Amino acid sequence: MPGRRKFLQTSLFGGIAVLLRKNISPLTEVEQPFTKGNPIVISTWNTGLEANKAAWKILVANGRALDAVEEGVKVTETSLNCCVGLGANPDRDGFVTLDASIMDESFNCGSVAFLERIMHPISVARRVMEKTPHVMLVGSGAQQFAIAEGFPIEEQKLSPDAHKNYEQWLKTSEYKPVINIENLQKTHGPSTPTGQSGEFNHDTIGMLAMDANGNLSGSCTTSGMGFKMRGRVGDSPIIGAGLFVDNSVGACVATGQGEDIIRISGSHTVVELMRHGLSPQEACKKAIERIVKIKKAKAKEIQVAFIALNNKGQVGAFAIHKEFDYAVHTNTEEKLIKSPSWF
Ligand code: GLY
Repeated sequence: MPGRRKFLQTSLFGGIAVLLRKNISPLTEVEQPFTKGNPIVISTWNTGLEANKAAWKILVANGRALDAVEEGVKVTETSLNCCVGLGANPDRDGFVTLDASIMDESFNCGSVAFLERIMHPISVARRVMEKTPHVMLVGSGAQQFAIAEGFPIEEQKLSPDAHKNYEQWLKTSEYKPVINIENLQKTHGPSTPTGQSGEFNHDTIGMLAMDANGNLSGSCTTSGMGFKMRGRVGDSPIIGAGLFVDNSVGACVATGQGEDIIRISGSHTVVELMRHGLSPQEACKKAIERIVKIKKAKAKEIQVAFIALNNKGQVGAFAIHKEFDYAVHTNTEEKLIKSPSWF
């Protein structure tokens, strides 16, 4: 009987894997078969190239993936990026509000949302994880905690670019809660639904890393949608939506229209699909397919992208629209990869 049960289990799981693979065309993936001492870091958008360099310094010195993903995205939080950190575009009332999350190899996780005037929300998220019995702190409570932990409170001031973008947006003050879509921006120029412009027009940095011990961690940080409604929070600080890590399977992080990522618990969905045998790229594609089917014709108006890393060191990504790219850093290469897309 045990033999028969094992056979049935194997057939069942094999069948699920085959069903899940149906309609998925073979895709090129970055693969570095995992051996100990063979770390890797990946992150969203071209800003990930610089962020990966900071993460790599830690990984190459046999540091923890958790430290790598924190230090990596701090680079983007400090830069004058339109959509990450205090240099980012404000909400429609003129205030920059930040969301971030972090997760390690043992399901420890922490996040902050609607945090103002703190330079490194990712580090506050890590303190929430390490110093409180909670997973998430928001708003003035998160800021109070950050100050108590010794994070400096910064001046309430928009960066020159954000100031310019906000002034431009105020001319119409049109409320269109749609995240930036790279290829539409190239077509339509700076006057996009979000009013954002420039080559840094990416909404989030998400980073995943595997360290020399084979442990995975992930981080995600953003200012969310430009000119959003005050109090709006997207997927990035929500564990399971913007970020999820299961060391026995893999990790995923999301970028794009937060509401539609939350709707399907996007990052958790991708990790579960990998658990059932899909490769990182197939899993990302399947989750995107789910969003496209839910949104129907409106899928054309939004951008969502996932990047994923499994515990064998294979990576993949998939986006609704083209022009999404992600940065990869391994022992042998450091490059930007154009993600496949639905449209
Ligand atoms: N993905 C970032 C956001 O929607 O806020």
